[in-house]
Amino acid sequence: MKKIISVILAVALMAVCFAGCGSQGLTVADIQKAGKLTIATSPDFPPFEYLDENGQPTGIEIEIMELICQELGVELVIEQMNFDSVLPGVQAGKYDVGVSGISVTPDREKNTLFTDPYCLAAQAIVVLNGSPITCKADLEGKTIAVQSGTTAEAYALENGYTFNPYAANTDAQEALLAGKVDAWVIDDLTAAEMVALYNEANPGALVVLGEAMTTEPYAFAFKQGNDELVNAINEIINKLVADGTVAEIFAANNAPYTAPAQG
Ligand code: ARG
Repeated sequence: MKKIISVILAVALMAVCFAGCGSQGLTVADIQKAGKLTIATSPDFPPFEYLDENGQPTGIEIEIMELICQELGVELVIEQMNFDSVLPGVQAGKYDVGVSGISVTPDREKNTLFTDPYCLAAQAIVVLNGSPITCKADLEGKTIAVQSGTTAEAYALENGYTFNPYAANTDAQEALLAGKVDAWVIDDLTAAEMVALYNEANPGALVVLGEAMTTEPYAFAFKQGNDELVNAINEIINKLVADGTVAEIFAANNAPYTAPAQG
């Protein structure tokens, strides 16, 4: 009797799993029914996402998401947070998409479904003018500022560097300026933008070193299982990359564009 009950229970469990596990994901129809796509973003990352003079999120990725939403016929809803809350929030289903200059890594792919990438970026080293650090090898034994939860932090961990994590990129920049750290490791285009802005008022104060340390494709992040929606969004992204729209958005934001590898 006991055996029969446990077999029935096992079969019932499997049935629940078949019904639920495969078809749980968000679809285009779900999003269109809701009339909106909610993105999670950390707007401390110019030129990809930052706050304009009216405190509104703007930037390359916001513009790309606006086009994707237009194409889907839904409204773009923006939720702001620190970078280290973006992926956990998406994985927990609190937000539909993570939009935060997110690099695709094998580690993240274990619990995140990424769209196709729309560009390539790299990590760069920022130092104070006159710093003895002139290349990656000089980081040995130095203290580095990174943003929490980023690939810069993972990079520091993997290479055994001493590092201080900061919730916002602006805090990491301030730590470098205050001499609390020897270098700041951050994505190259954002480094260029933040350093240019700071140096406008303080000429030559901050220096971005020439050596790019990684190659990182940027993509948008979804909860695993949302394949139908992600496939539809991939079609839109690939069209925007192929017809030059993404390159135009970069140019309009004064940022050099590197297309993702084909594949
Ligand atoms: N590309 C890096 C990563 O994926 C840094 C992203 C930081 N983004 C931000 N909006 N602050 O970890």
